[in-house]
Amino acid sequence: MRRWMMQGALAGALFMSAWGLAAAQDAPPAKPAKAVVCESCHGPGGASTQPQYPVLAGQTARYLYLQLKDFNEGRRSDPLMSPMSTDMTRDEMRELGAWFAAQKPPVSSFKVDAEKAKRGQAKAEETLCTMCHLGGFAGQNEVPKVAGQFYEYIVKQLTDFREHKRTNDAGTMSSVSGTLNDADIDALGHFLAGL
Ligand code: HEC
Ligand code: HEC
Repeated sequence: MRRWMMQGALAGALFMSAWGLAAAQDAPPAKPAKAVVCESCHGPGGASTQPQYPVLAGQTARYLYLQLKDFNEGRRSDPLMSPMSTDMTRDEMRELGAWFAAQKPPVSSFKVDAEKAKRGQAKAEETLCTMCHLGGFAGQNEVPKVAGQFYEYIVKQLTDFREHKRTNDAGTMSSVSGTLNDADIDALGHFLAGL
């Protein structure tokens, strides 16, 4: 009898928390416990201040989740980031993605070279980047936002795609980056970091 009552109470509690979740759907996502670890490199709320650590704040939730999954399953690797992605459940990846996506991105302090940025913009138009990344490189779902990302990080990623060091893009970026030389990548970095 007592055991039955315990189970009843437990079921009731589960029901209440499920109901609580549904009611809280419109509220901003709660900060996941693991986010504190991420912030030691990616900055408070993912608003990174160091160019080797990409800005996560304001990135699309879907893209963040997919990258965590790729690091976790070894499709993308980096000596600093890969160890951070092990021992993480799908739900934790989703929660981290949703939380960082909802944070405010930092204001970029990168000194844009106007001449290079102009060339970068022309290259982006010629290559139809915004067909996938949307106008202003705002990103959508699995296609990342690149606007306001660090120059150094953008250059590294475009180079890694071109040299097939980063291969988790199902071919989209490796074929695009194959058409870019170093000067194009430098110019695109100035254009995108300044958006
Ligand atoms: C020790 C430093 C460090 C910590 C801690 C860290 N990261 Fe990273 N993270 C990196 C680096 C470096 C990169 C860039 C790798 C590259 O150049 O490809 C990265 C890349 C990423 C990316 C890909 C971003 C993009 O635009 O493609 C995501 C998502 C990410 N980290 C999420 C997290 C989360 C979530 C945590 C916490 C669980 C975390 N990171 C903890 C160093 C770190
Ligand atoms: C056919 C669609 C498509 C086109 C065209 C495209 N991209 Fe991408 N891009 C993607 C996708 C999808 C990803 C994410 C790949 C992944 O999942 O790892 C990406 C990733 C990136 C990244 C890495 C972002 C990060 O946070 O790590 C950069 C930088 C980038 N694209 C810049 C560009 C530029 C510049 C152009 C044009 C010269 C371009 N892309 C054209 C689809 C596209």
